[in-house]
Amino acid sequence: MEKKFARTLVTTALPYANGPVHIGHLAGVYIPADIYTRYLRLKEEDVIMIGGSDEHGVPITIKAKAEGVTPQDIVDRYHTIIKDSFEELGISFDVYSRTTSEIHKKTASDFFSKLYKKGEFIEKTSMQYYDEDANQFLADRYIVGTCPHCKNERAYGDQCEACGTSLNATDLIDPRSAITGNRPVLRETKHWYLPLDKWEPKLREWILEGHKEWKPNVYGQCKSWLDLGLQPRAVSRDLDWGVPVPVEGAEGKVLYVWFDAPIGYISNTKELLPDTWEDYWKKKDTRIINFIGKDNIVFHCIVFPAMLMADGDYQLPENVPANEFLNLEGDKISTSRNWAVWLHEYLKEFPGKQDVLRYVLTANAPETKDNDFTWRDFQARNNNELVAILGNFINRALVLTHKYYKGIVPALGELTDYDNATLAEFKDVKAALENNIETFRFREALKDAMNLARIGNKYLADTEPWKLAKTDMTRVDTIMYIALQISANLAIAFEPFLPFTTAKLRNILNIKSCEWEELGSINLLSTGATINAPELLFEKIEDSVIEEQIAKLNRTKEENLIKNYKPAPVADNIPFDDFMKLDVRVGRILECTKVPKADKLLQFKIDDGMGGRTIVSGIAKYYAPEDLIGKDVCFVANFAPRKLKGIESQGMILSAENPDGSLVVIGPQGEVKAGSQVK
Ligand code: 2FM
Ligand code: ZN
Repeated sequence: MEKKFARTLVTTALPYANGPVHIGHLAGVYIPADIYTRYLRLKEEDVIMIGGSDEHGVPITIKAKAEGVTPQDIVDRYHTIIKDSFEELGISFDVYSRTTSEIHKKTASDFFSKLYKKGEFIEKTSMQYYDEDANQFLADRYIVGTCPHCKNERAYGDQCEACGTSLNATDLIDPRSAITGNRPVLRETKHWYLPLDKWEPKLREWILEGHKEWKPNVYGQCKSWLDLGLQPRAVSRDLDWGVPVPVEGAEGKVLYVWFDAPIGYISNTKELLPDTWEDYWKKKDTRIINFIGKDNIVFHCIVFPAMLMADGDYQLPENVPANEFLNLEGDKISTSRNWAVWLHEYLKEFPGKQDVLRYVLTANAPETKDNDFTWRDFQARNNNELVAILGNFINRALVLTHKYYKGIVPALGELTDYDNATLAEFKDVKAALENNIETFRFREALKDAMNLARIGNKYLADTEPWKLAKTDMTRVDTIMYIALQISANLAIAFEPFLPFTTAKLRNILNIKSCEWEELGSINLLSTGATINAPELLFEKIEDSVIEEQIAKLNRTKEENLIKNYKPAPVADNIPFDDFMKLDVRVGRILECTKVPKADKLLQFKIDDGMGGRTIVSGIAKYYAPEDLIGKDVCFVANFAPRKLKGIESQGMILSAENPDGSLVVIGPQGEVKAGSQVK
């Protein structure tokens, strides 16, 4: 039997305040959560959406050190950027707070104390890495070394990002301190552990038996964690940034960031509703939905629920619809490599186009598998779907209404069989949308909404009111009445997805209220009502705009290549005699031309001091022929001749390779005669 809920609490993963948010965050978490929440609000359900910045943890302290500022400076900077950009995109949080707030620190501290007093933790001393120069223990990302699984040399003390394995710092081969680069020593330290093993049977029952309806990616990940067997997890760290462990003698220790962050959902609810927050957390008829990305599944489905079980007073989430990852132009999005489309930059570069991004990221959301965002797809979806289908239909309906009726809604006349068939089709859209949104299939839901616009387009194309206007205005009345009702329905159907566009549309149509239950009605606009002058809802995005974005990403790629450049390993030693076999000479370029039908090749005539020779070289991408004429270059003179595109090449011009693969020819630094030997 379907469960009934009196209220819904929507939580969204708290983004780390050590960088701005990007399209991966939006597609994975915030846009789906916003669609879901806006939908429930439209249905007039009791729903709140909670967000906030995750402001603790080691990466923030490392960034602060690197910049010579305090961790508070870092989180202040990014919290503001993140909060403002969410707001501008229309992510409609009821509260967006932060984990450095006083209310949060107290809530997290009290949460720990209650569990501590109930005896829910195990106290354990263990050996952990300590940096003797920096005088501190090295938690999580403060320690780097070689991953024992994939041999990545830059694995962290808590995880290897190359192979995704979660690690203990002591697993790392050749560990080094991220602060000083020194080899750390092992020292004894005390921490508090949450015995996840104690909660394993309850977690198994709750997820594996009770929530078979969860998305397969979420259910599957939980099952594999549970099948591996759960271990106690440390919930404190030796660090000076975080919520202090509220136990005597725990100076210098703070709550582990993953212990305090999810409590942020509770503190932010408290901040929003100081008197009634408990209803949303403790009453049985509350539905809690956690929107997260797939890297957060274990914390939301295993660790946080175990914390809530240990407390005993809280409800567990009803669903955790985690998404997979969104890639960018075929590569994993990465903050450290600046491989991302940053929301605050998008908003600046595409003013007024919030809904285009919301649309594209929903249409392409990584709901069941990783997906790829490309700027070409962004352009195509805007031009071929938003402009050509949705915008086009509404614009036609509005323009024709103004043309034939001066903006007054005409009367509905007799319905033909075709009208009835159209209306029947359009009535199905509401149920389809509801079913898809309520089961977190937002891509499908968006298609349902778009389908309504397609129905409208087809209706106008098939009935051709512009032709009938000459002969049968009564028929045109009915057609335009229906087209306008479809437009008004679109203002409801798209409201959860494209709130800026629907607000504009409602404004044009002079509709004040917007209620979900009205979706499917053909009386949203009354005969005789006035509609305002049409305005274009979407505009075409030109190639040049997209090319500019692609060029920006290419520049990032080049910067990364230079930043991460590592010379290739030196080849095996060779005896002197082998070197002597190579006859390298200096030659002067007399002529240089492009080789026809070979975009990589240039053909050279070289003065080699011995009568001249022809050389063909693959550097056409890097030089214009005229730039090289007159230059002195080094070439291998005793290379066995070979034919390239039918031309015999009698040697090889030497070049050095840049990190991006581009080539620079090598020549002498001073005057030398053509034909001189290079030794
Ligand atoms: O992965 C992340 O970005 C974390 N900051 C998410 C925290 S979610 C919650 F627990 F606060
Ligand atoms: Zn690895």
